[in-house]
Amino acid sequence: MQFPDGFVFGGATAAYQVEGETRTHGKGKVPWDDFLAAQGRFSPDPASDFYNKYPVDIDLCQRFGINGIRVSIAWSRIFPNGTGEINPEGVAFYHELFATCNNAGVIPYVTLDHFDTPEAFYQNGGEGFLTRTTIDAFVEYAKFCFAEFTEVKHWFTFNEIPATAEGSFIVGNWPHGEKYRLDKAFQLMHNMMVAHAKAVVAFHEGGFEGEIGIVQNLEPKYPLDPNNAADCEAARMADVINNRWVLDATFRGHYAADTMEAATKLAHIAGGELDVRDEDIAALTAALPYNDCLGVNTYKCQFLRAAEGENDINHNGTGDKGSSRWFLKGVGEACVREGVPTTDWDWIIYPEGLYDLLLRIKNDYPNYKKIYITENGMGYKDDFEDGFIDDAPRIDYMRQHLAWILKAIDGGVNVDGYFVWSLQDQFSWTNGYNKRYGLFYIDFETQERYPKASAYWYKNVAETGLLMA
Ligand code: NOJ
Repeated sequence: MQFPDGFVFGGATAAYQVEGETRTHGKGKVPWDDFLAAQGRFSPDPASDFYNKYPVDIDLCQRFGINGIRVSIAWSRIFPNGTGEINPEGVAFYHELFATCNNAGVIPYVTLDHFDTPEAFYQNGGEGFLTRTTIDAFVEYAKFCFAEFTEVKHWFTFNEIPATAEGSFIVGNWPHGEKYRLDKAFQLMHNMMVAHAKAVVAFHEGGFEGEIGIVQNLEPKYPLDPNNAADCEAARMADVINNRWVLDATFRGHYAADTMEAATKLAHIAGGELDVRDEDIAALTAALPYNDCLGVNTYKCQFLRAAEGENDINHNGTGDKGSSRWFLKGVGEACVREGVPTTDWDWIIYPEGLYDLLLRIKNDYPNYKKIYITENGMGYKDDFEDGFIDDAPRIDYMRQHLAWILKAIDGGVNVDGYFVWSLQDQFSWTNGYNKRYGLFYIDFETQERYPKASAYWYKNVAETGLLMA
């Protein structure tokens, strides 16, 4: 059970979830600021205070054998208004952060937009990436970062386009959220994929050194009863929403006819039309040779059953097991399957789904080049006892996923690294602070860090490259 030489063992973070200092040091607003303030449930400040504490976290990485770190740049820390005026303090902060990483041998893998598109794009009638001028603004921002941060060699444009669409337009539990608007969900994903494609082309045309890709939350969709044709169709439709739309855009450079047909059908059920132009497809096609890597964030899967009824989705944000519902018209109903465990947040734990997913990418999208598992980990209510956190279920979760990754590598899939979500405990968008993912526990009162049992376990895997049964 040996990982290949050079395999990256990383930890993952995202600017808004760790940095804190969201309204200081010249940073511009993002939609989450007012959304969370209006909810009054929890604040993104100081989160993990990474803006001030990053040297401590990078030192922990170094001491625990972690040789890669996923971080994101907060677009509104660089361009407080989305475009135009630059905030020098923000630029200096990221230079210092990247230098500290590189000097410690903890290589930065940098995402340009991790759920924090600036508020400016929602003003004066703007609707974020639903408004096409945001695409050009993103490409300008990306070009600025490529030219400025030459110390970064691994870039990702966006984080989890399907999750962005789901939160914004299907579940509706994100800022500006609307429910069941599949038309807007597909349009948002499409526009963001065009922005991604244009940024990738700009990276290569600019002759910048390094690699570039996109991070997606890909999720296997299975029919509850594989012998039932209607259940299989439900799984196929759910797969188009979550996986095929973005994978086709990236690795085919267009949407396959059945992908487009399914998306159009779902958009019609929601009462809208899709705006996919020839020039958009030309942009996707132009980027085809330049998608150097794909980031896969993986946590769960879905079992689907065909069913009639009204839309009804309620994501369990509380950690009360069994309280989630997911029924989508034109698709079907998500179910639990006998004998398959779930987390307290009703996330189905099915590690072999990751193997299926990786093999499927290799077989269905043979021109992918390289995959990083850019997030995997377990949200858990850790118990802190005498300075120690015995998070055995998290270790088990990671061990099983890593074992299936090794099997996929054996099966010929090119996987080059694994990043635990998350490096340290951090703020969770819709769950706040009680859903902990970190290898390092944070006492949010004192901002002290404490390695969990999982951190010691991961250290051993990272330092030896060996996965013990
Ligand atoms: C996906 C996202 O990238 C991250 O922001 C989120 O907190 C984790 N997964 C856990 O849900």
